[in-house]
Amino acid sequence: MPATVIVGAQWGDEGKGKVVDLLAESADVVVRYAGGPNAGHTLVVGGRKVVLRLVPSGALHPHTLCLLGHGMVIDPATLLEELDALEELGVTLAGRLQLSRQAHLILPYHVELDVLRERGAGATAIGTTKRGIGPAYEDKVGRRGLRAGDLEHPTRLRAKLSESLEHWRPSLSALGGRAPDLDAIYERLLALAPRIVPLLDDISHSLDVALREGKRAMLEGAQGTMLDIDCGTYPFVTSSSAVAGGACTGAGIGPSRIDRVIGITKAYTTRVGGGPFPTELHDARGEHLRTVGHEFGSVTGRPRRTGWLDLAALRYARRVNGLDGLAVTKLDVLTGLDRLLVCTGYRTPDGIATELTPDLTEAATPLEPVHVELTTWDEPLATARDLADLPTAARRYLSFIEETTDISVDLVSVGPDRDETILVRPCLAGHL
Ligand code: IMP
Repeated sequence: MPATVIVGAQWGDEGKGKVVDLLAESADVVVRYAGGPNAGHTLVVGGRKVVLRLVPSGALHPHTLCLLGHGMVIDPATLLEELDALEELGVTLAGRLQLSRQAHLILPYHVELDVLRERGAGATAIGTTKRGIGPAYEDKVGRRGLRAGDLEHPTRLRAKLSESLEHWRPSLSALGGRAPDLDAIYERLLALAPRIVPLLDDISHSLDVALREGKRAMLEGAQGTMLDIDCGTYPFVTSSSAVAGGACTGAGIGPSRIDRVIGITKAYTTRVGGGPFPTELHDARGEHLRTVGHEFGSVTGRPRRTGWLDLAALRYARRVNGLDGLAVTKLDVLTGLDRLLVCTGYRTPDGIATELTPDLTEAATPLEPVHVELTTWDEPLATARDLADLPTAARRYLSFIEETTDISVDLVSVGPDRDETILVRPCLAGHL
């Protein structure tokens, strides 16, 4: 009953979309377990670009059952727009997409609150994606949230909407926002309900049945380890459980059902929004990573912050996710750099810290990374399909990652297209 979790090992945008899409070829079920339309998985298939925000990346394979887990927050209008856009590309999800009744709804005033708060926060802004993610999860833990299943019960829906609005009215008013109109939001939800309700299901049950039947499931994380609400660089995090453990609560399965956890990491590091980023570059090399790597947010279009690969962060990601293997993406972007550094740890008063832990990232004093310099290469990598096709320096870069983190590199991506991939362990795809 193989169930594999695919998790971002950094600050999101690691290229999970491509890896999930690739590995989903051999999966029967794909599940998104956390986050909402703050995610943007850009897939390039046959030269065509598709950005998926809510639908799992495995959806492009016509045989996969797609489940949206209850760890997610769903903007119903965005979901329907995405389904329409996929239809236009010839990808139909009819009959193979299920939405958890327990997934929470993002409502228009959640988005407005997110925007107004960020605008008012100045230097302390989190740099959110302004999709209403935080306020929707606040309603969830405040036990006044509206869930997808409420769309089946108009009276209950209206009562809960009224309760949530009462809670937020003073905050909206204090922030200079518009007074939300209960009737208008309610009518809008009723208008969307006929297309959402048929998707509702007990996705935990669907997943359990599939696993008992011996089907292969892939549970796809959103954002990344360092943006996790508990394990990340709090408070500069998203509001959900992005780490592998979130797959259990967010999809409704027990930890014993998960067979394998694969972490996705870029060959360097990026982050969007505010917060600690100790290996950040502010020079021409950082610009090289941004330009060559097309490091601009797929949801917001914001330029991403860029820096050297942080192996201490990866070691931490290994610990909190229980990583069994790594997929290293965008190795090709490092071609042509005049210097190549990786961070192996941090200097602290007690010695060298080899994991980038929350107590370090919350420290008031700037962190001092320990860097190791590795050999650069100039050869383009896009045509490599085997490790042996890579220049020696690039192979050394990968083996240095393996040696330092003690995680095997199972897959390497050398370009955006599906076939621009080196499957280091061919068993990987078969395992799913
Ligand atoms: P929120 O999830 O929109 O509330 O944003 C909280 C933090 O997570 C901000 O720093 C965002 O930039 C970051 N974030 C949210 N989603 C993503 C993502 O998919 N990739 C990278 N960063 C993200």
